[in-house]
Amino acid sequence: MQPIDTPQLASLYRSHIALLKAEFERIFAVAGYDGVVIHSGVAKKRCDVDDQYWPLRVLPHFAEWLPLIQADCALVIEAGGSPKLLRPTTIDFWEAPPIVEYDYFFEQFNVVGIKNRSAMKSEVSAGKRYAFLGEDRSLAAELGLTAINPAEITKPLERYRTRKSPYEIACLDEANRRAAVGHEALAKAFYQADLSELDLHLAFLAGTRQDDPETPYKNIVALGRNCATLHHISYRKTPSLSANGAMTLLVDAGATFQGYGSDITRTWVKGAGAAASSFGAIVSGVEKLQQLLCKRAQVGLAYEDLHNESHHYVAAVLREAGIARLSVDEIVNSGVSRTFFPHGLGHSLGLQVHDVGCAEIAPNSNNPFLRNTSVIGLDQVFTIEPGVYFIEPLLSELRASKIASGIDWKCVEALSPMGGVRIEDDIVMRKGGAENLTRAHLANSVA
Ligand code: GLY
Ligand code: MN
Ligand code: MN
Repeated sequence: MQPIDTPQLASLYRSHIALLKAEFERIFAVAGYDGVVIHSGVAKKRCDVDDQYWPLRVLPHFAEWLPLIQADCALVIEAGGSPKLLRPTTIDFWEAPPIVEYDYFFEQFNVVGIKNRSAMKSEVSAGKRYAFLGEDRSLAAELGLTAINPAEITKPLERYRTRKSPYEIACLDEANRRAAVGHEALAKAFYQADLSELDLHLAFLAGTRQDDPETPYKNIVALGRNCATLHHISYRKTPSLSANGAMTLLVDAGATFQGYGSDITRTWVKGAGAAASSFGAIVSGVEKLQQLLCKRAQVGLAYEDLHNESHHYVAAVLREAGIARLSVDEIVNSGVSRTFFPHGLGHSLGLQVHDVGCAEIAPNSNNPFLRNTSVIGLDQVFTIEPGVYFIEPLLSELRASKIASGIDWKCVEALSPMGGVRIEDDIVMRKGGAENLTRAHLANSVA
C-alpha cells in the first residue's frame, strides 16, 4: 500500500481534534453537562452458549476521536486541557494488543492506563455531571452516570458528523484509493477467468490488504442473477456461467482507513450474444446517468429531489433498452422505474457506511428506502448509486398490475439472468460542485 503523507495527515488530524473538542464543549455546555465519557465498546459474544467473540466494531462516537480498535477504552472530555484516553492495562496472553497503522493520534490525549473499572471511576471527577456515550449500561452505572446517550447531546453530534473535516475527507479519499485497487483487481480477474463469487471476494480482500472484519461492510460480490440481490453476501463457491458465456459481476465493496470507509460499486459484463450486448448498453446507460447525477448535485439542493430526478434518467434507460414501451413520465408516474430501481440514490458516508445525520426526516412514501433526506450541504460526503435490476418478486407484482402491457416481458426474461447493474461513487460536496473521491482513483465503470 502506498502510504498517505503522514506529516500532512497528522497536521490535519490536529485541526480535526481542535474543531471536534470545541464542538463537544459547546454541545455539552448547552445541554448542561460538565463533560462526556465516551466508551469504545465491549467485545460481543457470538451467542450466549459460546465462548467466542465477534471482532470489535468500535462505537462511532469514539472512532470520531481516534482510530484505536480496542474494547473497554474510554475518553473523558471536559472543557479545557487534553482529553483523557483511558486504556486497559490488563495482561492478556490470549490476544495481542491492536495494531495501529499510524500513531500520530496518541499525542492529542492524556493516556492513562487503567487496571479495572474502579480505576476508571477514579478518573471521572466526583461531583461533575457527565453524559455517557456508549452501549455498556452496567459500566455507566458503575461510574455513577445516569445520562446515557442523551438526545440533547447525540442529536447535535450526529448533525455535526454530516459535515466532514479536511482530515476526514483525506481519510475517505485514502479509503477510496485502497478500495480502487481491489476493484481493478476484480475486474481483471473476472475478464481473465471464470471464478466463483467466493474467489472474487477473497481476491478483493487480498487486493486491498484487508481482513474481512476490517471492511466497512461485508463485500457484496454477485455473479449473474445474484446481482439482483441488492446485498448479496452468501457467496457461491463454484463459478457460474450461462450457456453462451455471458456473465455479469456486481462488486459493491470498500476499504477502511483510520475508521473511515469507502462504498464503491462497479458492474462488469462479459460474453457474446444479444443478452450480453443489450445488458452492456444498460450498464453504459447507468454509468452515464450516474455521472450526470454527480454533476447535478449542488449545495442547497434537496437530496430527495436528486433521487426523484434519477428516476427520469432510469426511465429513459428502460425505454432505450426496450424494456418499457411507455413514455418517461408514464414509467416514473406509474411506479415502473421503482420496480427496476427500488433503493435510494445514496446515503451519507463516513465512520459508518450509512452515516448518521442526513436522514432526520422521513422520505416521501414512494421513496421508502431513501437514506438521505437532507438538503445537500458543503463538506457533506455521500454516495450516488443508481441501478437497474431484474428482481423477481418485484417483477411478479408488475406482471400482475394494470401497467404490465407497457413492458416487453420477452426482453425482461432475456435480461433477467444478468441480474442487475449498480454504479456507486463517493462524493464530497464543494462550493463549485461535487468532487468525486472514487473517480480520482478508479477511472471508469465501463470496460
Ligand atoms: N454497500 C451498501 C450500500 O451501498 O449502501
Ligand atoms: Mn452505498
Ligand atoms: Mn455500496
